[in-house]
Amino acid sequence: MLEALERIQQEALQALAEAEDADALEAWKTAHLGRKSPLMQVFPQMGKLPPEQRPLVGRRANEVRQTLEAAYAERAEVLRRQALAHALESERLDITLPGRRPPRGGLHPVTQTMRRIVETFAEMGFQVVRSREVETDEYNFQLLNIPPHHPAREMQDTFYVDAGGDSDTYPVVLRTHTSPGQIHAMRQVTGYTGEGPLPENPPPLRVVLPGMVYRYEQITARSEIQFTQVEGLAVGRNITFSDLKGTLTDFARRMFGPTARIRFRASHFPFTEPSAEVDVECFLCGGKGCNVCKYTGWLEILGSGMVHPVVLRNGGYDPEKYTGFAFGMGPERITMLRHHIEDIRYFWSGDLRFLEQF
Ligand code: PHE
Repeated sequence: MLEALERIQQEALQALAEAEDADALEAWKTAHLGRKSPLMQVFPQMGKLPPEQRPLVGRRANEVRQTLEAAYAERAEVLRRQALAHALESERLDITLPGRRPPRGGLHPVTQTMRRIVETFAEMGFQVVRSREVETDEYNFQLLNIPPHHPAREMQDTFYVDAGGDSDTYPVVLRTHTSPGQIHAMRQVTGYTGEGPLPENPPPLRVVLPGMVYRYEQITARSEIQFTQVEGLAVGRNITFSDLKGTLTDFARRMFGPTARIRFRASHFPFTEPSAEVDVECFLCGGKGCNVCKYTGWLEILGSGMVHPVVLRNGGYDPEKYTGFAFGMGPERITMLRHHIEDIRYFWSGDLRFLEQF
C-alpha cells in the first residue's frame, strides 16, 4: 500500500509538471485528486488492512494528498503568472509613441502679412475698417479726382460688373484699389452724402482699410488680376507731410526692425498732392545691395501723399480747415520680398507644397 502511494504521488507530480494551461490543470485535478482518482481509491480500501498498518498508511495517504494539493496550488500560481506575463507582452501598448497629427490648416502667407500690417497700425492708433469690393465708377475713380478720361485710368485697367440698370451712366466695377474706402470712411464720419453744404465740425479720422482689389491685366510673374492692398488715411486739423513721414517711419521700424530707414521719392497720384512713393531700406541686405533690391539698397513698398483738396471735400471735410495724408501698400509685394518669392502667381496657385512652407 505504501509503495502504491509512493507511485501515485510520483505519477501525479510528473503529470502536473506537464499541465501547461488552466484546462489541463483542471483535468489533472479531477484525475489525481477527484473522487475516482487512484489516491481517493486508497482510503476506502484501508479497512481491509491489518489494524497495525492502518495509521501508518492513513497518515501517508493524507501526506500524499496534502503534497498533491500544495503542488496543485503552486502550479496554478505559476500558470497564472505565465498567462499574465504573456498577456502583458502580447497586448503591450507603447504610450510613449507620438500620436498621429491630423492635418492642420494655416493662414495664407499674404494674410499673415496683411494681419501684421494691420496690427501694427492698430497699435499706432489706427482704426481698422472694411470696405466693399464691388464699387461704382464714381467711388473708385471720380470722387478720387480721377475723371472719366483721366490717363490714370490706364494704369488700372478695370473689370466692369454687369449690374443691370443704367450701367453705362453709372458703371459698376471691381475696385482697382482700396482708395475708394477713403471716401466711405470719411463720409461715415462726417455724415456727408455728396450734396449740400459741408458739415460744420466733423471729427478727425485715422483708419486703415485692408482688402482685395482687382485689375484686368496680363497675368505675369510680377502682376496678378487679384491682389490685396492696405490703405491708410488720417484727416484732421494741422496734419502735415511730416506727420506722414513720421507715421510711415514708425511703421517701417515696427514692421521691418528698429533700424529700418525709409526714403520718399516724388511721384504722382490724382488723389494726393503732393504725392510720394516710399522705399524702405532693403531688409535683406541691410542696404548694402543685393539681387532682391537690384543693388540699389532700397525696396519700393508703398504710394502716399497729402489728401487732395477735391478728395477731402468729397469726403465732407472743408479743405480750408482740414488736411490729411493717405497711403496704400501691397501685402503681396512685401511678402515676396520677405520670403524671396520670385513669382506672384504662386499665391493663387493653391499648391500645398508652396503654402505649407509658411
Ligand atoms: N491707390 C494707389 C494705388 O493703388 C496707392 C495710393 C493710396 C497712393 C493712397 C497714394 C495714397 O496704387
